[in-house]
Amino acid sequence: MSQNFEKYFIKAIEDLKNENRYREFVDIARICGEFPFALNKKNGKKIVVWCSNDYLGMGQNPQAILQAKKALEDYGIGSGGTRNISGNNSPIVALEKIVADLHHKSSGLVFSSGYTANDGTIQALVKIIPNLVIFSDAKNHASIIAGIRNSGAKKHIFRHNDLDHLAELLKNYDLSQPKIIIFESVYSMDGDFGKIAEIVEIAKKYQALTYIDEVHAVGLYGNRGAGLVEKLELQNHIDIIQGTFAKGFGAVGGYIASSAIIIDAIRSYASSFIFSTSMPPSIAIAVKNNIEHLMVSTAEREKLFSNVREVKKRLLENKINIFENNSHIVSVRIGDAKKAKIISQKLLENFNIYIQHINYPTVAKGDERLRITPSALHTQKMIDDLILALTQIIKEVL
Ligand SMILES: Cc1ncc(COP(=O)(O)O)c(C=O)c1O
Repeated sequence: MSQNFEKYFIKAIEDLKNENRYREFVDIARICGEFPFALNKKNGKKIVVWCSNDYLGMGQNPQAILQAKKALEDYGIGSGGTRNISGNNSPIVALEKIVADLHHKSSGLVFSSGYTANDGTIQALVKIIPNLVIFSDAKNHASIIAGIRNSGAKKHIFRHNDLDHLAELLKNYDLSQPKIIIFESVYSMDGDFGKIAEIVEIAKKYQALTYIDEVHAVGLYGNRGAGLVEKLELQNHIDIIQGTFAKGFGAVGGYIASSAIIIDAIRSYASSFIFSTSMPPSIAIAVKNNIEHLMVSTAEREKLFSNVREVKKRLLENKINIFENNSHIVSVRIGDAKKAKIISQKLLENFNIYIQHINYPTVAKGDERLRITPSALHTQKMIDDLILALTQIIKEVL
């Protein structure tokens, strides 16, 4: 690379470092069967992970591992292509059936990630529905924002969870104008819930389609782990439900569930679906196993939420400032990028506790935080150690 180009890259990195938002990845090795323990590769020490999205520990579900191993032997490593060209295979077809069943929809469609599911579906909707106007919650995830931007559609961003603002924006359009409201069920950083029932009502009034991202809810909420929409029994009132296999379901991949005709059209128009190699069969089989397990087993959800209650209670008792919410996400307010980083480093170095600090642009400047994710597998001793370490370090640093 010539010097002329290199200077841009150097400056880009320097800028991030000056703003304390240069990302340093912690090199860890997960230990199968011992989650939330992992190995810190820097010093060989065992650490406790408190920031994984493997909320229910399904990433080490023995039954899923067994079936994935068998699938590797039966089918090999990769899928061999895109769904259109040799990459379609029965494990993915079966996974799409279970996704549809989970959400009480006619059909499902599997993508390589939740990100590409959002990005691809939103762009496809805009190709399919002429003059579609998008109404998007201000705190929607980067993948939704990417989909909207890439679609080139006319958009309105309503203030987070502000139904009056949403209605005000919708009012400017004729009922005949095609519209879609895009929002989330659990906002991943603050951990607050989307106003699902209210948005469904507004959508009916203004005749808008509804699209919900249930990425942080699937596996965790509802009788069968289908998410908050299931908990509220609103499956029939949301047009498109989007989710991931990467969090509650413990693996990787994303999806949407909807009516047969909507899924058929998205399948036919979503670029990120059409032009990307499909999910490996072993993953599809493991994920299906995890979904089926969580459709009947409530033990993981119950343990998760009892751990969440305990962590929140103990943090509050110790006067640690957390974002108020009713979800499983525990965000500790820090409000300073440098301090957030120092706290995170001290937790790891002095206490072998791993909590990634969250800085801009994932959250707004001044909203820096530690995002703690209790899992179903954290023990009382781990919680005690966490509270002790965090209380001490926060006192020192803040
Ligand atoms: C709200 C939300 N939607 C979508 C995604 C993307 O999902 P995936 O990690 O499966 O790509 C994420 C990822 O963290 C997310 O938080």
